[in-house]
Amino acid sequence: MTSIQTKSEGSILSNLSLIAAHSHISGLGLDDHLQPKDCAQGMVGQLKARKATGVILKMIQNGKIAGRAILFAGPPSTGKTAIAMGLSQNLGTGVPFTAIAASEVFSKDISKTEALTQAFRKSIGIKIKEETEMIEGEVVEIQIDRSLTGGHKQGKLTIRTTDMETIYELGNKMIEELTKEKVIAGDVISIDKSNGKVTKLGRSYARARDYDAMGPDTKFVSCPEGELQTRKEVVHTVSLHEIDVINSRQQGFLALFSGDTGEIRPEVRDQINTKVAEWKEEGKAEIVPGVLFIDEVHMLDIECFSYINRALEDDFSPIVIMATNRGISKTRGTNYMSPHGLPLDLLDRTIIIKTEAYSEDDVAKILGIRCQEEEVETTPDALRLLTKIGMETSLRYASNLISVSYQISLKRRASAVDIEDIKRSYMLFLDSARSVDFLERNSESYIDDQGKVKLSKQDDEDKDKMDTSEA
Ligand SMILES: Nc1ncnc2c1ncn2[C@@H]1O[C@H](COP(=O)(O)OP(=O)(O)OP(=O)(O)O)[C@@H](O)[C@H]1O
Ligand SMILES: [Mg+2]
Repeated sequence: MTSIQTKSEGSILSNLSLIAAHSHISGLGLDDHLQPKDCAQGMVGQLKARKATGVILKMIQNGKIAGRAILFAGPPSTGKTAIAMGLSQNLGTGVPFTAIAASEVFSKDISKTEALTQAFRKSIGIKIKEETEMIEGEVVEIQIDRSLTGGHKQGKLTIRTTDMETIYELGNKMIEELTKEKVIAGDVISIDKSNGKVTKLGRSYARARDYDAMGPDTKFVSCPEGELQTRKEVVHTVSLHEIDVINSRQQGFLALFSGDTGEIRPEVRDQINTKVAEWKEEGKAEIVPGVLFIDEVHMLDIECFSYINRALEDDFSPIVIMATNRGISKTRGTNYMSPHGLPLDLLDRTIIIKTEAYSEDDVAKILGIRCQEEEVETTPDALRLLTKIGMETSLRYASNLISVSYQISLKRRASAVDIEDIKRSYMLFLDSARSVDFLERNSESYIDDQGKVKLSKQDDEDKDKMDTSEA
């Protein structure tokens, strides 16, 4: 591989906006001094954890530290995933953020370590600086000679700055490019000399009165000064994984769209690492350690954990944030118990942020925000009942009741969800505690561990008969 490409043609579709579990969150809700506000950017309470995450945010933005591990640990629905999503929003576009659920690692048709390697490399940004030569000026005249057969075209482009004017010979490709951009005399354009790309910067003020059929969005710019040829520095950020995919021969950049990248050969990665290190030495590239968020991290097994241990010490390592709701539990793939289901050697490398159960006030606020997000009107009484349900069962169950209660309220053509609708949906849909209770009372009619089940009352009578006949 002599030259390494870092650009693909096109971008990946993302950000389809749906009302999802965390769509009300637009950041961590911190002030300028990174202190958490009580309720901002969709975030409520959990102040200590948000403050701690603010410190991590600062650390990432400084871009000096890589290879650290952070663990969010706390009971279910205490906002661990929510805080991570808030962090990703605050990071902005320059810093890569990759979120995976630990179970994804097992569900791919590639090995566990390959899946993790890809996730790690997606979280490392490479900011590449390139100097390109540009021609920038106002078009005075474009002259195109079409040959009679229509095949080959030739032409001349006269272009000027306030200080000079030059005529360039045009070939087929440049003519196509200029026609595509609909460049006419009086436009100020820039031409990238390395790839011949033409960009229209606007119309020259000098020609503002030439035509009266100008669209409302026509932008006017002044004619450039000085030399026609200028050097410009352009910066673009790609992830290491994108560079891997673009340069791995079997895949090509199209794999970026399908997401089906398969395994990437280690030699390709080695070459890319060497090249990127060279670019860094030469000052051509900067490495931006991003964030890899692994949700439900207790689902990883011991092999994955030991991979992470080592990967954290790599030269190119992101900040790894993990989340778990497990207490002392078995580490997958071993027979021993450990805190949060994480092996002790990895736990030793992590700093832990704790999340705690919410107060009634916080639950009320979060449910209020969720109602707004789902565009559901509720009466104050209904919200109070919902909060009570949230405190007694779980925040998730209560917020799931919002949309079903809304559907029930629609049936009676009400403008707002009322206490009755909440009651109805509470009766229709069980929370986990009631479901467990029901199970315990009716356990014999479900299939048990031994595959046994009592299908009907008849079974009992038959059994009695058999017992007596045996006797
Ligand atoms: N502090 C908060 N502010 C606003 N919304 C929150 C907050 N905490 C949690 N939520 C919302 O409550 C719901 C449950 O929270 P979340 O999914 O983050 O819990 P979790 O700690 O990740 O739970 P689990 O351990 O089960 O994965 C989500 O819809 C989340 O957006
Ligand atoms: Mg979660």
